[in-house]
Amino acid sequence: MQSGTSAHRYDRRRLTDVFLKVYGTALAGVFRAPGRVNLIGEHTDYNEGFVMPAALDMSTYVAVAPRSDRLLRAYSMNFEESFEISLDANNPGASGTWGDYVRGVAGILEIRGHRLPGADLVILGEVPLGAGLSSSAAIEVATAVALLSTAGIKLERTEIAMICQQAEHLYAGTRCGIMDQFIACHGKKGRAVMLDCRSLDFRLLPLPEKLQLVICNSMVKHELASSEYNTRRAQCEAGVRVLKTVLPEIASLRDVTEMQLNHHRNLLEPVVYRRCRHVVTENDRVQRAGNALQDGDVPEVGHLMYESHRSLRDDYEVSCPELDILVESARPLTGVYASRMTGGGFGGCTINLVEMEHVQNFQREIARTYQQKTGMLPQIFVCQASEGAEAVTI
Ligand code: GLA
Repeated sequence: MQSGTSAHRYDRRRLTDVFLKVYGTALAGVFRAPGRVNLIGEHTDYNEGFVMPAALDMSTYVAVAPRSDRLLRAYSMNFEESFEISLDANNPGASGTWGDYVRGVAGILEIRGHRLPGADLVILGEVPLGAGLSSSAAIEVATAVALLSTAGIKLERTEIAMICQQAEHLYAGTRCGIMDQFIACHGKKGRAVMLDCRSLDFRLLPLPEKLQLVICNSMVKHELASSEYNTRRAQCEAGVRVLKTVLPEIASLRDVTEMQLNHHRNLLEPVVYRRCRHVVTENDRVQRAGNALQDGDVPEVGHLMYESHRSLRDDYEVSCPELDILVESARPLTGVYASRMTGGGFGGCTINLVEMEHVQNFQREIARTYQQKTGMLPQIFVCQASEGAEAVTI
């Protein structure tokens, strides 16, 4: 990451000092998991479709030391808050705080039969919170690898992702798909990951070297995000139920073509039809974008990303005026191939593909236009695609 400010940057020495201060003992290890940006394939993961995220060079770090009892204690450097819980009384249910992610991961590991020792944790998050860059998946996956290492348990990365997704469902109350946790586990430097959310097969795609991933944070987070997310998911499921009456072979929107959808349009409520149309056309766009990226056809990738934004704005209705302003302000700038909202929506960030030599001008112009139109300054991050979760040695 080359620019943008974050009050919380990883610094081994500071983490070590804080750990000692909070718990009076030395940390035994540090683990990290990255945030993510999704290039294309939004709201397709929970419809068993396709997504194309990349892991960011902003991570959540978890410092850990094992305990001899069954107490799980955690301190967040971002919130300057602690919590503790007994692993024997760690029931599902959301309290709406960061601790839900930590105890959620511990809870699901135990539900799945992995007995954990107690542990002391200090958590430092670099990923901006509530900005749609998956700070929640980053804390979940970093916690999972820290706890697993402390317990001496080795699990496949995909299994870790599934555990963290379940933690988010049962302990944080969002019925998210698998994308965020999967990329936090499987990210690769310089690569986007094209993931089939049904089979969980994935392929790594090269990101052209002349391009930078530039993320613009609208600095707004609309309260609707979580409830509307679950509503969208329910609308997709309602669509599948109706379509199944005439297309019994389908299991999810992944199996429906645009032609079939249009053929049976009259069976669906207009709003459900539009939700389904987004998912069905988005799946097609992701696959085309995957091929285009493989061939180095950046203009085609850009075109598909703009189309994705339009579909999210008009059919899925998860954009907001601030995100639309960011996209429309980026579009005419020199060296910009693509701009779209990324993540769940209702605020958060846009992802922009910008030619390296034009990045500075892009940052200046976007900041100026956005401030003029909204009165707010966007946070801008110039990012590199990075590795997934790992132990940190320095
Ligand atoms: C959130 C969820 C993901 C995915 C996106 C939308 O980030 O956690 O699973 O559904 O929204 O694409």
